Amino acid sequence: MERFENRVALVTGAGSGIGRATALRLAREGARVVLADTSESGLVETGNQMPESAEHRRRIVNVADETQVKDLVSETIKAFGKIDILCNIAGIASTGKGHPPVTENERDEWNSVLSVNLIGTMLLIKHVAPHMQARKLGSIINTASVAGIRSGAGGNAYSASKAGVINLTMTAACDLGGDNVRVNAVCPGLVETGMTKPIFDYARAHEKAHKLGARCELRRYGDPEEIAAAILFFASDDASYITGQALPVDGGNTASLNLPGMKV
Ligand SMILES: NC(=O)c1ccc[n+]([C@@H]2O[C@H](COP(=O)([O-])OP(=O)(O)OC[C@H]3O[C@@H](n4cnc5c(N)ncnc54)[C@H](O)[C@@H]3O)[C@@H](O)[C@H]2O)c1
Repeated sequence: MERFENRVALVTGAGSGIGRATALRLAREGARVVLADTSESGLVETGNQMPESAEHRRRIVNVADETQVKDLVSETIKAFGKIDILCNIAGIASTGKGHPPVTENERDEWNSVLSVNLIGTMLLIKHVAPHMQARKLGSIINTASVAGIRSGAGGNAYSASKAGVINLTMTAACDLGGDNVRVNAVCPGLVETGMTKPIFDYARAHEKAHKLGARCELRRYGDPEEIAAAILFFASDDASYITGQALPVDGGNTASLNLPGMKV
């Protein structure tokens, strides 16, 4: 029997990168999957890569819009009858060029980054969790970042949003644990995706590709599949006694002080 046979998963951010890798892997392991994203072309591409036998739906949704989230959840329940797994993966980076210091931060940027990364995550939990609580079963996986643990991996708004996701993971786990609904988070390090394309393009164009991920203890950047693997672990019954945790999946990056000048 496949690990996720008879399970229904809702995956946001499924139109690219980590969300796509997660949705495809869930489908390969037997789940029925609802793919949600703002990008229609991204959703179509993910849908095209689905295994032929995989039952799935595509849905354009902005996770920061509560009405759209409510509709997404009720349509998922209507189509598949339940939601066993919620993967909150949709996210956006800080928009300011070169991560300006806090003295130059724009309120609009903070509003938009927190709306998608943090409030969007809360809205999905808010509307999916009651269905899980009613069945006394469910696993929610949020996507934070090493940027939510340490500075230096994103702009201020992005880092604050991801620190918020880590804390929401703990508070939501406490709210929902009594109904056997688990809430965990992954904290990816640098991974090559749509979000980080500008970083990778710049490094490759300037002969700095060898520096990408070089400061991690594993001396390399990550692959979306490696984040998906951790997300699927939390989603699975193998993690049945784990809740409220935020797991760095970062090649050891946050295990080290990684002081400039201390490494060869
Ligand atoms: N790539 C990395 O190095 C890295 C590191 C740490 C954390 N993350 C996190 O991983 C998650 C996935 O990012 P990725 O790296 O795969 O980037 P990505 O840009 O490839 O994928 C993000 C997806 O989210 C979608 N999205 C953006 N705003 C949305 C909204 N309001 N509603 C619905 N969908 C929306 C985008 O259309 C896109 O398809 C994000 O939460 C990101 O912050 C990424």
